[in-house]
Amino acid sequence: MRPAITALRPVLFPAMVLLLLQHPVFAQQKMNQFITGLMAKMTVQEKIGQLNLVVGGEATTGSVVSTGVEEKIKQGKVGGIFSVSSPQRIRRIQELAVQQSRLKIPIIFGMDVIHGYRTIFPIPLGLAASWDMQRIEESARIAAQEATADGLNWTFSPMVDISRDPRWGRISEGSGEDPFLGSAIAAAMVRGYQGKDLSADNTLLACVKHFALYGAAEAGRDYHSVDMSRIRMFNEYFPPYKAAIDAGVGTVMSSFNDVEGIPASGNKWLLTDVLRKQWGFKGMVVSDYTSVNEMIDHGLGDLKAVSALSLKAGLDMDMVGEGFLTTLEASLKEGKITLAEIDRACRLVLEAKYKLGLFEDPFRYCNEARAQQEIFSAKHRGIARATAARSFVLLKNQGVLPLARKGKIALVGPLADAKENMVGTWSVSADVSKATSLLAGLKEVAGTGVEIGYAKGANVTEDSALEARTSVFGKPWQRDARHPDTLLAEAVKLAQSADVIVAALGELAEFTGESSSRTDLNLPNSQKKLIDALLATGKPVVMVLFTGRPLTIVEEDKKLPAILNVWFGGSEAGYAISDVLFGDVNPSGKLPATFPRNVGQIPIYHSYKSTGRPLVGDEFQKFRSNYLDVSNTPLYPFGYGLSYTRFDYSPVKLSKTRLKGAEKLVASVRVTNSGKYAGEEVVQLYLRDLVATNTRPLKELKGFQKLLLQPGETKEVRFEITTELLKFYDNKLRYDWEPGEFTVFIGTNSRDAAAANFTWLR
Ligand code: BGC
Repeated sequence: MRPAITALRPVLFPAMVLLLLQHPVFAQQKMNQFITGLMAKMTVQEKIGQLNLVVGGEATTGSVVSTGVEEKIKQGKVGGIFSVSSPQRIRRIQELAVQQSRLKIPIIFGMDVIHGYRTIFPIPLGLAASWDMQRIEESARIAAQEATADGLNWTFSPMVDISRDPRWGRISEGSGEDPFLGSAIAAAMVRGYQGKDLSADNTLLACVKHFALYGAAEAGRDYHSVDMSRIRMFNEYFPPYKAAIDAGVGTVMSSFNDVEGIPASGNKWLLTDVLRKQWGFKGMVVSDYTSVNEMIDHGLGDLKAVSALSLKAGLDMDMVGEGFLTTLEASLKEGKITLAEIDRACRLVLEAKYKLGLFEDPFRYCNEARAQQEIFSAKHRGIARATAARSFVLLKNQGVLPLARKGKIALVGPLADAKENMVGTWSVSADVSKATSLLAGLKEVAGTGVEIGYAKGANVTEDSALEARTSVFGKPWQRDARHPDTLLAEAVKLAQSADVIVAALGELAEFTGESSSRTDLNLPNSQKKLIDALLATGKPVVMVLFTGRPLTIVEEDKKLPAILNVWFGGSEAGYAISDVLFGDVNPSGKLPATFPRNVGQIPIYHSYKSTGRPLVGDEFQKFRSNYLDVSNTPLYPFGYGLSYTRFDYSPVKLSKTRLKGAEKLVASVRVTNSGKYAGEEVVQLYLRDLVATNTRPLKELKGFQKLLLQPGETKEVRFEITTELLKFYDNKLRYDWEPGEFTVFIGTNSRDAAAANFTWLR
């Protein structure tokens, strides 16, 4: 043995040293040393320069845009740029930084890669409706692959703001109303973007946003004030941000709104006490677009005051507003901030660049060959199509769907031949000319045995001013100039000659997204009229509903025999919708946000609490918690979605009904596919704490599993429950469970679920 080891020593020894050096502790030490060395050479102004994030492209979301960027780069006054892409352009800008600035510090390149880069996946609310964490992670993986191939290394995603208010246009950008589902998605997205090695040339630094509570803007009006109790923050709104942090997200974006009277970008309790001290976040915090400057309008002082407040609160990078760049040096001289605070922020920005490998090779992400091969590839598009099909939610179906591949289909509606509308909001890097419209997709997927006719039937709305307001980034929507009656008559004529009508209706993509709040969530009158005219033909009408938010479609639900909600399904949505219409894919999406009956019910969500005067049943009762004019129940509950097949659930089986301390409970059901089609079902687990020291929700989502069942097949679905799942923050913000009685519900949505009770003691 000995001679052999001696002989191997020259090989083994260096290998072991190399392994040791890769150990996280050494890697961290090496990074610290490098950055400390670099910072020792930096002037205060150069350090502040690193905190400056400028916008380079056309996707501006505020009134301010960056100017004189090239000169600033040379002077070391820019740390990062966003909304510029392509390896050539990024290489040119990076060259300015690493060849012409004094310290040659590379620039970090960001972009809003929200639901895909060029291959566009469904809007995040749609992705959430798939309840499929593998597919969601894969969508982020593909987005990272494509964005890094185009020169980028940082994305402002995932957006994880819980929202229970569909008036808010940005509900489309998040995962809906539920913290448990939202947390699972947040973690999946971070894993997908960042992968295992941030310095690889195909992984993207992620940024969880908007910290915090942006989705709870009062009255659903964008950027509006937020005021809520801390128990609600910690139990219901914070979990997805925390889940992203636990999954290792590298950066956090502060939100526009105020929280407890202090705008998030200057809120020390949020950015330091909760984020860093309590949750242990070690990365950098970037502001939202000019959100530091906007604190002037919030009434917190002039640019110098709000910039100092933000830095002190724990904000590291200033997006676009240049308050940091132009005022921090003076604040330092006046003793309003410390050098240590500037150093903290500068170090965190440099660490992000270091982890991306930019100091090793600033051109790591500038590979023209990759851009050619990897962006919008057939493989990526195939995956996006399959994922989109699984995000659609079948809201109603009285035997009309799936469509037969024969006879004549009348495809009608203002969104039927609208490829520019398919990708949905926040797809800044999409090439809409390459998206597939429903008309094109349907023709291709139908094959030769089906005749497909098309008529527009109506404009999206008669309100042309509303329509015009939704054209952001200079992409106006083309209204049809013909008289409404002419449009309608053409559609009716076509419908009369068809066997079935598919009506592509709903919202324009930019009816949702940033600064797109609405107070009327009904279908516009032009579309309602079209539906009535189509129904009058006596032919079956399937509504394909495009939407970025829950809509109030009580009337349509009453009148129409079939409704398929398709959100905005991305660049391949035209194919994916057709796959589902013809039954090549059985719909399996479930609502991640409750559909209200009317706007007056908002905020509406499944995990509400009992009042002291709960309504029993659904009939109005005086002096009970209900409305005179509408039921308490939603139109479609959270977790709801139908299939072409039928799933039957057995009663809930519990491994025990009395437990103690660290024991485990297994709750299970047997689910049978008793229909004709193979199908996927999302089996959902909800819990209720029956007696506690604080009021608790009547039902909280605590588990879900998506499974595939062949016709006639039965599977047992088991959920393991530990006391971890029973924990909550009480009004002293203690996080623990309380012994006592609980109910477990397992079912197909938050309303239709079978229950069983158990007792858990300490
Ligand atoms: C949005 C952010 C986005 C940023 C940069 C802001 O207006 O709120 O979500 O990341 O612009 O484009």
